[in-house]
Amino acid sequence: MTDRPALSLNPGSRGSRVLGLGSFQPEKVVTNDDLSKVMDTNDEWIQSRVGIVERRFAEKDELLTDFAVAAGKAALEDAGVDPSEVDTVILPNCTMPTLIPNAAAQVAARIGIPNPGAFDLNAACAGFCYGLGVASDLVRAGSAKKVLVIGAEKLTDSVNPTDRANAIIFADGAGAAVVGASDEPQIGPVSWGSAGDLVDLIGMTEEKFIYQEGQSVFRWATTQIAPIAMRALEVAGLKPSDVDVLVPHQANLRIVEAIAKKLRANGAREEMVVADDIKYSGNTSSASIPLALDHMRKAGTAKSGDVVLAVGFGAGLSYAGQAFVCP
Ligand code: UT7
Repeated sequence: MTDRPALSLNPGSRGSRVLGLGSFQPEKVVTNDDLSKVMDTNDEWIQSRVGIVERRFAEKDELLTDFAVAAGKAALEDAGVDPSEVDTVILPNCTMPTLIPNAAAQVAARIGIPNPGAFDLNAACAGFCYGLGVASDLVRAGSAKKVLVIGAEKLTDSVNPTDRANAIIFADGAGAAVVGASDEPQIGPVSWGSAGDLVDLIGMTEEKFIYQEGQSVFRWATTQIAPIAMRALEVAGLKPSDVDVLVPHQANLRIVEAIAKKLRANGAREEMVVADDIKYSGNTSSASIPLALDHMRKAGTAKSGDVVLAVGFGAGLSYAGQAFVCP
């Protein structure tokens, strides 16, 4: 026995759910033909090897934090949540030009969220799924009531414009989700991990440009990510046949198709809708999953109540996925 006082905990909730989604892209559209004027590439190579038709590039004076504010506001509006109700802001990204001040606190202030817990999270292209997992568990544990998760990137600042393998892939944008409590769990447990032994496959050069050993990353993603997605279903008590919408990180359309093929070989339905937002958005790293799902909802290919399976993967190498119900 001890006379130490017992600690009390915040009341949590049985489950959590995504209350709303929002996204933002800069206006400037860059086609493959535009790129072929400034580097040795062509539309046929890009479409057949990567699946991109066009992407959005920010202007010099448009910042990652600007995209995040716009996507965050849109998600709050979609959720019908007032900024004053949000107590936590998580901002997955890997392209903030400076490490301090963090993006989350600045973005929260600009949206009008009063004094939230605010932090950036870097798990590269897996960042949104990491952030969603943390948000869900904060809500369930009672540490937060409403969490705004915003994946935002300005990758054009981090790509050498003469590096044709990367300059054609990466693009700019943001996607956001609002997470709150729910009696019935509507966000499954996150299935996450990292392969630090493969750390050298993606990184930054001394000039602070992204490099990747493309083919090795491609092989890893096409073989190792479908099992992570399957594990996310298993821990949520779901089967591949339950998935209505598959949203893999939009790294390369051939990787997306390989993941979908593996899931279908394991029981996912032919009619399962598969995100192909990379065609018109490029690879926006931690923004790509919420950006793709928001676009799919607007296009009517993903509907409220659908079972979504998201899986992100990238530098680290890091990966994470979870199942959740589409708001
Ligand atoms: O988001 C984070 C995770 N990242 C990924 O998941 C990316 C995974 N990797 C990939 O998606 C692909 O590896 C890339 C898109 C990055 C590159 O595609 P690849 O098919 O692996 O091309 P490669 O770099 O191996 O190059 C193949 C050929 C080379 O020519 P040779 O040496 O065979 O004559 C390249 O010089 O394609 C050439 N090439 C290009 N040609 C026209 C490379 N980039 C281009 C280009 N346009 N933009």
